[in-house]
Amino acid sequence: MTRRSILVTGGSRGIGAAIAREFAQAGDQIAIHYVSAQPVADEVCKSLVGDGHITAQADLRDADAIRTMVEQVAKEFGKIDVLINNAGVFVDHPIEATTYEQWQDAWAQTIGINLIGAANISWCALQHMPKNGTSRIVNIGSRGAFRGEPLSPAYGASKAAIVAFGQSIAKALAPMHIGVTTLAPGFVETEMASRLLDGPEGDGIRAQSPFNRVARPDELAKAVYFLASPDNEWASGAVLDFNGASYLRM
Ligand SMILES: NC(=O)c1ccc[n+]([C@@H]2O[C@H](COP(=O)([O-])OP(=O)(O)OC[C@H]3O[C@@H](n4cnc5c(N)ncnc54)[C@H](OP(=O)(O)O)[C@@H]3O)[C@@H](O)[C@H]2O)c1
Repeated sequence: MTRRSILVTGGSRGIGAAIAREFAQAGDQIAIHYVSAQPVADEVCKSLVGDGHITAQADLRDADAIRTMVEQVAKEFGKIDVLINNAGVFVDHPIEATTYEQWQDAWAQTIGINLIGAANISWCALQHMPKNGTSRIVNIGSRGAFRGEPLSPAYGASKAAIVAFGQSIAKALAPMHIGVTTLAPGFVETEMASRLLDGPEGDGIRAQSPFNRVARPDELAKAVYFLASPDNEWASGAVLDFNGASYLRM
């Protein structure tokens, strides 16, 4: 298969780093995006199989920074075949126990990064995507889009919106043979989930799945690789539940 150029947002840690490893293993060239963890992003970059991988910094709340970062990646690689919208935040702000100021801050941050950031980077990346059937956008959503997120309602809303965003642009980009899909995981062993998984609620969370565990990042990475495959145009518009049967919906 031709070597593709992959931009993974939030590739410095957790699921994003695992996705970067999976594509690199398959021979692709990776841009690892991060916001502040440069040494960690550099380490991940150096550890990837193959050559020509780079890191790229931008705060996804800053539309101009996103554009500059995507232009740099496109200049380096000549094109962007695959965008993985993975970067995201989960901020606690239960409605019954949050001040109005905290509430507004949590919504601005969460929607700004998880949704508007992903929308802006998608627009910028599209300018550099070949229209030959090899280009894909994969969004990392969440089971929380469907199940509800009482601790972080803005997170649930952002993940429901990324599903609608992905389905909308799947229709818009089909004439260009660009496929767009969304993965909707349950809990995954990463820093984002560690506070809950390592705390008193951890066993209860693992028991949500009849497998009595949560996902590993490498399991998600394989699913993302499948969704982004050039052979997988017909998956466009799909939302893949990926939660160990912990939350089933029709
Ligand atoms: N972990 C779970 O249980 C779980 C479950 C379902 C869905 N997800 C989704 O999976 C995705 C990855 O989650 P994860 O658990 O791997 O997260 P994580 O370990 O907390 O990593 C978050 C990533 O997002 C980046 N990021 C944070 N704020 C940013 C900002 N303002 N601008 C740009 N990038 C920013 C971070 O960059 P730095 O390293 O530079 O800070 C980091 O690379 C997220 O979309 C999350 O919602 C996670």
